[in-house]
Amino acid sequence: MKKTALITGASSGFGHACAKLFALNGFNLVLVARRENRLKALAAELKAGTQVHTISLDLRDSAACLKAFEAIPESFKDIDVLINNAGLALGQEPAYRTQIDDWQTMVDTNISALLRVTRYFLPSMVERNSGHIVNIASIAGSWPYPGGNTYGATKAFVQQFTRGLKADLLGTNIRVSEISPGMAETEFSQVRYKQDDHKAAQVYQGTQPLTAEDIADIVYWTTSVPKHVNINSVEVMPVCQAWGPFAVHREQQ
Ligand SMILES: NC(=O)c1ccc[n+]([C@@H]2O[C@H](COP(=O)([O-])OP(=O)(O)OC[C@H]3O[C@@H](n4cnc5c(N)ncnc54)[C@H](OP(=O)(O)O)[C@@H]3O)[C@@H](O)[C@H]2O)c1
Repeated sequence: MKKTALITGASSGFGHACAKLFALNGFNLVLVARRENRLKALAAELKAGTQVHTISLDLRDSAACLKAFEAIPESFKDIDVLINNAGLALGQEPAYRTQIDDWQTMVDTNISALLRVTRYFLPSMVERNSGHIVNIASIAGSWPYPGGNTYGATKAFVQQFTRGLKADLLGTNIRVSEISPGMAETEFSQVRYKQDDHKAAQVYQGTQPLTAEDIADIVYWTTSVPKHVNINSVEVMPVCQAWGPFAVHREQQ
């Protein structure tokens, strides 16, 4: 029987590439994002024979999530792989200048929505004693940078929550993995800089960033290792990226 993967944030970037790769590898798919046209277009281009159920909603809306998840057709209900990928960074201002609404949106999307989706689908995995949750965090969850304040903190939450899940699931066959990508070229920077295309393009100028397909390959790999192997965490950067030196502020002499 075909397995089913549920991918949040499937309308773009990593989620979109994961949908294509999992379809190629014989999965049926439940695809979630706000932009319905994108999800429909993706569903139409997937490998023939792939069964797809699309859910277009804002994952921050708990009532809409409950309604949509309850309405998932029976044949898609048993989720084998849950990819908690939907998320975003908004702005890069220092904490004392940032928009509080941006912080709230990041917390609501990167943390609360991820918790909501996980809490909904996990009990059925436990009941079936089978499943895999892959959470997309970020190197920003481990390594701070100026203006990364709340975004980094939400991704640190994802990293630690993943470890907590693994602890809770000991004694079951359910696997839990967290992937922390570095710089990857998707719509991420357009969203972060609020559709300022020039600023978004500058992020990748003169570099060879990771691609969505690079991340999809890693996500798929974590799910395809032997059943007794749990990839806890993967941190990945493009070759052109590294950490900076510690910053030290010096008074003028
Ligand atoms: N690109 C990078 O450099 C990078 C690095 C590390 C980690 N990440 C993380 O990787 C994940 C995927 O990002 P990406 O790079 O693929 O960016 P992306 O191209 O902007 O994709 C983000 C996806 O999340 C969905 N999404 C955002 N808010 C949503 C909401 N409220 N409800 C439903 N869906 C929502 C978007 O769909 P709609 O807009 O259609 O709703 C879109 O499909 C994110 O968690 C991001 O933080 C990215």
